[in-house]
Amino acid sequence: MEIIIQPTPEAATAIAARLVARLIRKKPAAVLGLATGGTMEPLYRELVAQKLDWSRLTTFNLDEYVGIAPEHSQSYHRFMREKLLQHVNVAAANVNIPDGLAQDVPAACENYERKISAAGGIDLQLLGIGTHGHIGFNEPTSSLASRTRIKTLTPQTRRDNARYFGGEEQVPHHVITLGIGTILESRHCLLLAFGKQKARAIAAAVEGPITAMCPASVLQLHPRVTVFLDEAAAAELKLTDYYRWVYAQKPDWQRI
Ligand code: F6R
Repeated sequence: MEIIIQPTPEAATAIAARLVARLIRKKPAAVLGLATGGTMEPLYRELVAQKLDWSRLTTFNLDEYVGIAPEHSQSYHRFMREKLLQHVNVAAANVNIPDGLAQDVPAACENYERKISAAGGIDLQLLGIGTHGHIGFNEPTSSLASRTRIKTLTPQTRRDNARYFGGEEQVPHHVITLGIGTILESRHCLLLAFGKQKARAIAAAVEGPITAMCPASVLQLHPRVTVFLDEAAAAELKLTDYYRWVYAQKPDWQRI
């Protein structure tokens, strides 16, 4: 796992955007795994500003709330459209977001998994982290081998996301999320976390034991993970001097 600590979220986001842009230029038909949430907004702004060619890319989003329509102000369909998709030349047929209104949720989840496989798997998966360590909406105690499925949100996540919905009561209880097993199959994971409210989850994910109580800790098993942090999110890590030294000493061919 590579840990990149920057003074500000903006500085960390700029490096993450360079990494995503590099993949898009190198592999124009790449498969991107996309996330939503406040952490991703500046990253998408940076990517839009770079005017990259998205015409051959395929995208799969991590998750969607169950029971809310794509037009709902807080649906992840809407988030993606407004923050990224309507600003780039991605082909609508290549955009995949779980269907929160699916009549047969298990069948829709299986189909989502099949589509990811048919596309050749995810080249680069963007991830945020919940304050208790979720990735996607794989809440604590999620199976570390899970596939795309319905999950029930914890009270903690519903409280955290109340800020987007204007109140906790409005936050749906159920979501469809890519499984942890599915996330682990992506070729490269980029985890972004900013702010002191993420510090504990980051310390548990990066330096704690691998445990379903902190689903992000399973990324320790993944062969290629890059973690982008600001100082506040890195505050509870023990080996920060080591991570900084490694990043400063990177040979040119490894520089982002
Ligand atoms: C969103 C997702 C979640 C968020 C996480 C952090 O698609 O999968 O795991 O990445 O909840 O959300 P923010 O960035 O809003 O703090």
